[in-house]
Amino acid sequence: MHAKSIDIRTFASADTLPTIELFRNTVHVVGKDVYSKEQLSAWAPADIDAEKWKSRLAGAFTIVAWRSDKIVGFANLLDDGCVDLLYVAADHQGQGIASALLKTLENEATRRGVKKLYSDVSLTARKFFLAKCFVIEKEYSKKLRDVEFPNAIMGKVIG
Ligand SMILES: CC(C)(COP(=O)(O)OP(=O)(O)OC[C@H]1O[C@@H](n2cnc3c(N)ncnc32)[C@H](O)[C@@H]1OP(=O)(O)O)[C@@H](O)C(=O)NCCC(=O)NCCS
Repeated sequence: MHAKSIDIRTFASADTLPTIELFRNTVHVVGKDVYSKEQLSAWAPADIDAEKWKSRLAGAFTIVAWRSDKIVGFANLLDDGCVDLLYVAADHQGQGIASALLKTLENEATRRGVKKLYSDVSLTARKFFLAKCFVIEKEYSKKLRDVEFPNAIMGKVIG
């Protein structure tokens, strides 16, 4: 199916649990050939605090992609141009959903006068951001719950 059939809306409180579930499942399924179990559990642990998650998403420009009444992806933009979260359901990968989400974030950033988008990108998303004309600005080892991750800061000038 093509991304044309998705609907993008802004985040609502009722999306809290479905987005947590999508996040956890995507990380563990899409990341399983790239990361160790220890890394996957540090990235997307079983005990995500729903209230903190809701505040994080509600406190940013957060959008949710829907198809057939199901959330199939979500993303958010911080005030400084950071693409903080970008996740697509494991069974909807490669259908242009992240492209549609990023386009919406980019349009919003442009509307706000933000000059550059950037993201702290995991190995599982590097090729996506390269395909979207982001460049690697810094490669580094990120520590999350005492576990190391090879990450990269990637950026793209917009507007
Ligand atoms: C990265 C991610 C969001 C991409 O979502 P997606 O909906 O599958 O991406 P799209 O279908 O819109 O792909 C867009 C482009 O990126 C390319 N791309 C995406 N993932 C790719 C991969 N793993 N390898 C190679 N190319 C990839 C596609 O070929 C496509 O190129 P095109 O526009 O030239 O045709 C998704 O794989 C994901 O959820 N990954 C796990 C979570 C994650 O790492 N999130 C980012 C946190 S920093």
